[in-house]
Amino acid sequence: MAVTAAKVSKEFEVHPYVQFMNDRYRAYRRFLEQEGLPILDGSYVRDVRTLELGGWERRGGRGAYLTFSDQMVADAYVAEILPGRSLRPQHQLFEEIVLVVSGRGATSIWQGDGPRRSFEWQRGSLFAIPLNAWHEHFNASGTEPARFVALTSQPVAFELYRDPGFIFGCDHVFRDRFDPDDAEFFNRPGQYLTEYYGGILHTNFIADVRQVQLVPREKRGRGTRNMYIHLAGSTMFAHISQFPVGRYKKAHRHGPGAHVCMIDSTGYTLMWKEGEEPTRYDWAEGSIICPPAGSWHQHYNTGPEPCRFVALHASVAVQREEGGIEQIDFEHEDSALRRMYEEECAKNGVAVAMD
Ligand SMILES: [Fe+2]
Repeated sequence: MAVTAAKVSKEFEVHPYVQFMNDRYRAYRRFLEQEGLPILDGSYVRDVRTLELGGWERRGGRGAYLTFSDQMVADAYVAEILPGRSLRPQHQLFEEIVLVVSGRGATSIWQGDGPRRSFEWQRGSLFAIPLNAWHEHFNASGTEPARFVALTSQPVAFELYRDPGFIFGCDHVFRDRFDPDDAEFFNRPGQYLTEYYGGILHTNFIADVRQVQLVPREKRGRGTRNMYIHLAGSTMFAHISQFPVGRYKKAHRHGPGAHVCMIDSTGYTLMWKEGEEPTRYDWAEGSIICPPAGSWHQHYNTGPEPCRFVALHASVAVQREEGGIEQIDFEHEDSALRRMYEEECAKNGVAVAMD
């Protein structure tokens, strides 16, 4: 006999043990509060390039934490390196993917007493910090600050170990993530693995996400292209997506942790929980949207160019998308959504190109 949704009832909002741990330890939140930086809740920031940051004594720069959608699997932070300066070197028992949003600079990465491997970056560069590798970010400009946004699995590390002394003070070298003897680690051309659906780009450094060649992947609508990206042996990953002028993507929902970083065009995203009214989030370059786990979300391009974004994702160790990802086909969506899109495109003089 099939079990229908009508027979499902919610047992509790928050599991009692989760509540107990939150009340008793709050290890991650306590650490964030000690950092003395602004902490942004919610699911959205309009522009990380102009977001107000605070002085970051521990790292010697400026920063802010984004604790979006209260998911505790992956959180982002924004860092600014002052002109002519660097952030203090750090190593850490959590993963990190970095997207540069403004400025230019360089990063050195090393393990233990091994040699430093360095690469230069600019707006649009994407790379990962190999697990527990030392890293130091430099600003190459003497006059302009440089900013990046990074997604980390820091919340998980703090919930598991609690002690920053261990998380930032463990000397183990994870050679499978980054071989210190490999001089070409950050320079080698990426490998495109076609055996996975849509293909996966296996690389350690992308100079400019705007230049990455994408492949047609039209599940979310005609003209949509994308590329999954595996960096530095990480369990966290990124993907680049692009969809055409005059079009929007199908609404879909999935598990926690995705941070959608808009890089081209302008538009808006609607997000809603099942049975509730959508909330609208306007975006342009620099916007980040983090759909809460299980919430429907839909990206609309109302600008004059194809919309390209980089989504940074939580570790597959905590988010395996069991049961798959659901989407709403265009013929089944609320017609008010299409009308709203047509009105917004008309305001911008953009011709709608939906089917
Ligand atoms: Fe999504």
